Amino acid sequence: MAERGPKDPTDRDRRATPSPNPRDASGRENPWGRAKAGAARAGPTGNAPARRERRGAPRRGDQPDTPPSPWSGPADAERQPGADARAAAALAIHQVRDRGQSLTRVMSQSVLPRPPADRALTQELIYGTLRVLPRLEALVGILLHHPVKPSDRDLEALILVGLYQLTVLGTPPHAAVAATVEAVRLLGKPDKAGLVNALLRRFLREREALLAEADALPSVRWLFPEWLLAALRRDWPEDWEAIVGASNARPPMSLRVNATRTDRRAYAGLLAADGITARPIAGTESGLMLDRPVPAQTLPGFAEGLVSVQDGGAQLAAQLLDAQPGERVLDACAAPGGKTAHILERAGPGLELVAIDSAAARLVPLRENLARLGLNARVECADAAAPRGAWDRPLFDRILLDVPCSATGVIRRHPDIKWLRRATDIAELCALQARILDAIWPLLVPGGRLLYVTCSLLAAENQDQIAAFLARQPQASERAIPIGDGRARPHGYQLLPTDAGSDGFYFALLEKLAP
Ligand SMILES: C[S@@+](CC[C@H](N)C(=O)[O-])C[C@H]1O[C@@H](n2cnc3c(N)ncnc32)[C@H](O)[C@@H]1O
Repeated sequence: MAERGPKDPTDRDRRATPSPNPRDASGRENPWGRAKAGAARAGPTGNAPARRERRGAPRRGDQPDTPPSPWSGPADAERQPGADARAAAALAIHQVRDRGQSLTRVMSQSVLPRPPADRALTQELIYGTLRVLPRLEALVGILLHHPVKPSDRDLEALILVGLYQLTVLGTPPHAAVAATVEAVRLLGKPDKAGLVNALLRRFLREREALLAEADALPSVRWLFPEWLLAALRRDWPEDWEAIVGASNARPPMSLRVNATRTDRRAYAGLLAADGITARPIAGTESGLMLDRPVPAQTLPGFAEGLVSVQDGGAQLAAQLLDAQPGERVLDACAAPGGKTAHILERAGPGLELVAIDSAAARLVPLRENLARLGLNARVECADAAAPRGAWDRPLFDRILLDVPCSATGVIRRHPDIKWLRRATDIAELCALQARILDAIWPLLVPGGRLLYVTCSLLAAENQDQIAAFLARQPQASERAIPIGDGRARPHGYQLLPTDAGSDGFYFALLEKLAP
């Protein structure tokens, strides 16, 4: 995972729509108990209205936000190998799908199972299941005859995990079924173990026909919500199919070498000594892309601050801002601090940096990152849309504005965005971005530069936002972005997740003219 978290506000009180069940009307017995058959089922990208609230779905507040611990079953040694991972993955997916929590928040809670060996598998199950969710939901819809009871949505999530293993992961069927059935018990619902067993075994028997039926549904083709597909088609008529494909793929793991401690070549040598192969990321000064991801904590010198995990495109922000020693710099939406740290690493000592963010909790990892990397900044919890406080004077020579956005450019790292984000969010986010731009601009010294950044692919948050700002702010002048001209937009520059070594970032560089 890159250091970058999904842009707020992915984490919301919202519930994904339930999965399609073409056989609701069959009238057959509901093995899950009494859920209202009228709670019509439609996948997130299905034909039925998207984002409809599931009738009878658990409301936030009905139950605690923290997932219940699944580790209340038999002692570790007696358990089916991997059952912990399945149960933990199911609970995490339940939190995202049914409680509207962002994956970043869910993963920061203690969802990962105790045995460290199960952690990588748990992450694979969570991220992979969310990537292909409509397909798995369609299969569940076909296999089940009725919607599940609200109180069994965790079990439905577990079935999705079971089907992910059988359709994508290639787990040997007997292992996948046995571990998933054991996980039913870990969820505290042993009476449903037989049902889950029967359902997964039916899938194995009728696999080809069931997959053909699921894949015929429009929601399954692109694994993307309709509204976002339409927006990408509109904004990227030539590239949208490739963007969707790249967004549904696993992301590479990219590193940023800490220039205050070592350099890229020397660090690549440390990696090689540990048997980890990596290549420089083109266009970056300190970026390395690993051939295979590894847990960050196992990277040589990670704890000592030699390196951070950060996408190659994200690394262009500090390069484009190009802050120099002796300058006063504001990072106005800074948490969790990936770009803050990079600005400091590039400039070395002598840079005065103020890092603010309105989310106090997100400042904790920012401070931890700076401490690990041996860097210093003034860190404040503050609202960039209404700046006030001792930190905002004197004026800044450089400002980084990495605004909250739709995060549509980082879906491959945060597949939950596909299911949590709504079409109506975009206008709200654009309004917030405009407020932040207008409020922060007066803090820039004449002759100073502001770099506006999003990890969005949508014109409304990017070139349209900058065009509107330039129109209402005569002192703002756009500077060329020296990346190349392949993705130059009418204003600013766009990286796409299809570009080698990069997530989908947008940059616009503005200079303040003398009054
Ligand atoms: C894209 S993230 C920043 C990522 C960060 N620059 C990095 O590279 O690690 C956007 C940040 O904006 C913050 N934010 C949202 N609204 C804000 C506001 N009104 N004032 C300050 N920060 C805000 C969010 O809490 C979030 O941490």
